[in-house]
Amino acid sequence: AQVPTMLGLESSCDDTAAAILHGRTILSNVVLRQDDLHAAFGGVVPEIAARAHAEKIDIAVERALDEAGRDLSQIDAIAVTAGPGLIGGVLAGVMCAKGLAAATGKPLIGVNHLAGHALTPRLTDDVAFPYLMLLVSGGHCQFLRVDGPDSFVRLGGTIDDAPGEAFDKVARLLALPQPGGPSVETCAEQGRPTIALPRPLMDRPGCDLSFSGLKTAVLRARDDAVDRDGGLRESIRADLCASFQSAVRDVLAEKARRALAACPDATAFAVAGGVAANGAIREALQDVADRAGIPFLAPPLALCTDNAAMIAWAGAERLFLGLTDDLTLAARPRWPL
Ligand code: KG4
Ligand code: ZN
Repeated sequence: AQVPTMLGLESSCDDTAAAILHGRTILSNVVLRQDDLHAAFGGVVPEIAARAHAEKIDIAVERALDEAGRDLSQIDAIAVTAGPGLIGGVLAGVMCAKGLAAATGKPLIGVNHLAGHALTPRLTDDVAFPYLMLLVSGGHCQFLRVDGPDSFVRLGGTIDDAPGEAFDKVARLLALPQPGGPSVETCAEQGRPTIALPRPLMDRPGCDLSFSGLKTAVLRARDDAVDRDGGLRESIRADLCASFQSAVRDVLAEKARRALAACPDATAFAVAGGVAANGAIREALQDVADRAGIPFLAPPLALCTDNAAMIAWAGAERLFLGLTDDLTLAARPRWPL
């Protein structure tokens, strides 16, 4: 077919997802979340995640087909996240995809989860290679130059925590609800960035980032404020949020500037991941793109956080290049781009 109909599967973390794409049209995009299963443990428990993926992946596929009004015979190829991620979950997806490919005789395509995120701007916008991509979420933080569907150059990334993780930890330190990103952003609106916090790795050349020291600095500033006050005044909490958010914004913007300088032929600057939902951060990144004279692309959040439409799309890009896999496709816990 000229315009392929793709089934995509994603199960590398805590969302079981399936989607149907016809060309760039999203016919369905099902995400079955597991938050409630992991909530009591304060993080994703791999064993629980693997079991839930194995139980839910067939349901996700059925629902995706159903919502799309398609049956399996109308699917041209099956794309699945083959890594990196929690191996039990990745295996559940890969085994399901292999079963479907064997049963239908349709091509099987293993997709790198990060490539799925990195190619999403081409699903939602007309963007040509190469472009600069910033993945910025609770689990990822890296700058990629995207040269083709199978060609990525990592320009830099975090050497410790991801920024979303730092937002979540700072929220915990300040007794704000999880996920921390939105609650810290809301609290910051009531405050001013008056508390001096470090801008980690700013004076080091290159595009690497660090967020764990920033989180520790917030802890220290909080304790100083509590000592002086005997309690954490609401205004101080808001100032801490505003100061932390400004620090994250400043380092992301400066490193983005450098990453763009390192790829002068970039046609666009795109962001993906939960942290890109932050208004202040988004504005600063948009400004970096504006100054470089290139479009700033931020796909809708449902396509920026973990989903299977991005995997189906990355699969379509690979199918177009003839990059298919056979039934020996392996699930890989680690898989650098
Ligand atoms: O992309 P995502 O949904 O999931 C993965 O991490 O894979 O990102 C979630 C992360 C969480 O750490 C959350 O606190 C952060 O994105 N986040 C935000 C905002 N909304 C979500 N961080 C800063 N500001 C926000 N408005
Ligand atoms: Zn992801």
